Amino acid sequence: MKKTIWMLAFVPITFAASASRSIWDGVFSAEQIARGKKSYEAQCADCHGDELEGDGKKSTPLKGEAFFKNWKNKSVHRLIDTTRRTMPPDDPLTLSRDLCTDVVAYILSENGYPAAKADFGATAPDLRQIVIEPPKK
Ligand code: HEC
Repeated sequence: MKKTIWMLAFVPITFAASASRSIWDGVFSAEQIARGKKSYEAQCADCHGDELEGDGKKSTPLKGEAFFKNWKNKSVHRLIDTTRRTMPPDDPLTLSRDLCTDVVAYILSENGYPAAKADFGATAPDLRQIVIEPPKK
């Protein structure tokens, strides 16, 4: 009897640990990041800068302190969705979700997050659950 209670107590914990994946485990493959770099250069760099530094005026930096100020603790899904819904400002909702996902993979990689070791395929993590955690010091 005692044993059963112990097992029940531990099941939810191990389940939660295997179900949740952190941004530090790598969320996007190296291929996605490479594709995203190309798309970024074509679709975003004119305004947000070759180094994601912003244009010093309206276009926000997508790297470093300014990026984390706006995006820390928000989900990766939200960053992709915001990009798709608002960018480019004069023609939003024209970029595909795949392109926006690749570009966000690139932006996250430029901000110091690791690439995933393999393509996840069907077991891809739920991007709503992946939080843009502040950088490790
Ligand atoms: C024509 C110029 C232009 C292009 C092209 C453009 N952006 Fe932007 N972007 C802006 C401006 C201006 C803002 C600030 C909008 C605001 O504050 O309302 C912005 C804001 C953003 C934000 C929100 C920043 C924040 O921290 O809140 C993200 C994310 C973003 N852009 C990503 C992208 C991505 C990714 C692309 C390429 C797919 C892209 N943008 C293309 C001009 C541009």
